[in-house]
Amino acid sequence: LKNVVKDKYERPILSLRITITNRCNENCIYCHHDGMVSSKDEMTPDELYKISKIARKIGVKRMRLSGGDPLVRKDIVEIVEKIASLDFNDISLTTNGVLLEKYAKGLKDAGLDRVNVSLDTLNRDTYKYVTNMDYLNEAKSGILKAVEVGLYPVKINMVIMKDVNVHEIKDMFEFCKEHGIILQLIELIESENCEDDKFSAEHHYSLDSLEKKLTDMADKVHERKFMQGRKKYYIGEGEIEIVRPVDNAKFCASCSRLRITPDGKIKPCLLRNDNLVELISHIRNGKSEEELEELFINGINNREPFNKED
Ligand code: 5AD
Repeated sequence: LKNVVKDKYERPILSLRITITNRCNENCIYCHHDGMVSSKDEMTPDELYKISKIARKIGVKRMRLSGGDPLVRKDIVEIVEKIASLDFNDISLTTNGVLLEKYAKGLKDAGLDRVNVSLDTLNRDTYKYVTNMDYLNEAKSGILKAVEVGLYPVKINMVIMKDVNVHEIKDMFEFCKEHGIILQLIELIESENCEDDKFSAEHHYSLDSLEKKLTDMADKVHERKFMQGRKKYYIGEGEIEIVRPVDNAKFCASCSRLRITPDGKIKPCLLRNDNLVELISHIRNGKSEEELEELFINGINNREPFNKED
């Protein structure tokens, strides 16, 4: 790993996830709604380009845009185009898919490599319960469009919730296999600011038993390097990945990710809200690239694991 910055735990910083908006056209039951940023305060395409340029300079290989829902930004294609001019290995976007049918082709042409679509269920009532909206058909059309235009590989993010969708994993996997989509099963994370604060406690489902089952079923299992101990299970023609952030020291030990919050701060860890480093006001005040790079290094030096290995 040449020209890559490492933190004090020897973790290389290989990926940057930028939350480009907090606005969303859905309202998921488990969402942490972290803060409100009005559209006029959001980072502009040029500012996002500057941030990405520094990331590129310090060795970041992969970029991910997330939200809110990033597709509610009217300038999303321009944003992707600007970032794609910087020659990253991989540019991806996480979306609920509702607006994806409209944008998939434009995003692909702008240089987006792939998408992760959050879809927890194929059942209309369950979809309404989880997202508070009735957009299942739109989300599905968006996913199929992404497959069609070659935003490859398309992944579906399915957050597993007890008594909500655990029983639907098999159906979702069939849907994925049919369309050449990778299924990511995500452990429910407790979120402080969600409307029903008991929700995550009541519906948390340990992925232990699931991993055991998948291990038995799989033709091949692969643990991804620098990817938070994520395991990939190859089952026939299909592929399932497991994401377990809770109580998982491995998740942190091999975390290679840095984040930017929607209000333009460097966030060293998904699961912690301390040690943030102010960035956007410095960009707006015209600080030099060298000075901005230093802020990034400060952010990286602030990285502390959430789950410590004993
Ligand atoms: N627990 C687990 N996953 C979550 N996501 C959002 N909130 C939670 C939570 N409380 C998922 C979304 C999206 C991904 C970026 O994170 O479904 O797919």
